[in-house]
Amino acid sequence: MTVQRVYLAKPRGFCAGVVMAIGAVERAAREEAKPVTVYHSIVHNHTVVERLQQQGGVHFVESLDTIDALPAGSETVVFSAHGISPLVRERARQLGLATIDATCPLVTKVHTEAKKYAREGYTILLIGDSARHQEVIGTRGEAPDNTVLVGVLGKTGEGLHDPHTVEVPDPERLVVLTQTTLSVDDTRRTVDILKARFPALVIPPSEDLCYATKNRQDAVKNIAPHVDAFLVLTSTHSSNGMRLLELAADTCGRAYRLETDTDVVNLDLSGVNSVGITSAASTPDDLVQNLVAYFRRLNPALEVIEEGEWENIEFREPKKILASQDLPR
Ligand code: F3S
Repeated sequence: MTVQRVYLAKPRGFCAGVVMAIGAVERAAREEAKPVTVYHSIVHNHTVVERLQQQGGVHFVESLDTIDALPAGSETVVFSAHGISPLVRERARQLGLATIDATCPLVTKVHTEAKKYAREGYTILLIGDSARHQEVIGTRGEAPDNTVLVGVLGKTGEGLHDPHTVEVPDPERLVVLTQTTLSVDDTRRTVDILKARFPALVIPPSEDLCYATKNRQDAVKNIAPHVDAFLVLTSTHSSNGMRLLELAADTCGRAYRLETDTDVVNLDLSGVNSVGITSAASTPDDLVQNLVAYFRRLNPALEVIEEGEWENIEFREPKKILASQDLPR
């Protein structure tokens, strides 16, 4: 049986933070005479990183510990969309590097909350899906002595505490913050568990989960009842993308992860009449379009259904800050 119908999730793909961060790297590569260092994958997608590397002038590093790790002559470092710990900013200053901070403003908002509550003597329960995720490392780095990591429902171990058993020094001075890209439903359940255990828990007025995470998950929920299988274009290290994959599997029962469109040839889609497609906030949309073209080649009468709304949000590109200007934040 060939696929008769494709439902495209909308919104899907690039969020405003990813557009801003990729734009910041591209502009730096164009304007800088020397190679540009990017601290961590600018966004969590292999295709994006490969394309930037192919354009040239950009070098990705996972540490600023040794100057030898930097490309020869590099004078500027771009911080990725996931944010950084203040230690990394300080290290860049020590190395005399100019900085371009491409941290998503919605991540910066969580950093600001962490600093505020730590200053006021609160313990921060920071809900995340991995202690090793760059965003969790960065947010925790703002208040390492005040932060306790809590695994979002179902995720424990590797430095994450279980919300059912986590202990805190003072239950009366406690706030919950979260990674921006978690499952909306699991985060709500996790906060409910914590609130039941610690009634004085402060929940900041605006949620930390970002609009792009919520909207992409809603779009999957809308499509799932109509499709036999879901295809999710995401790298494995994209938190929001892997949450889309889990949600698609839960709601549709049959979901596959594709790194790029060409992976589709390895799938067994027997018995699949209609397919849902979505993509992580860091996945380029041409991969989705290639996937649709593939199904259309197999079935020229393919019906493509795309309902929902695109987002209308933009973030300003960050300015370059010279090492001498870099004031502590
Ligand atoms: Fe920012 Fe959310 Fe995108 S935190 S980078 S808008 S997935």
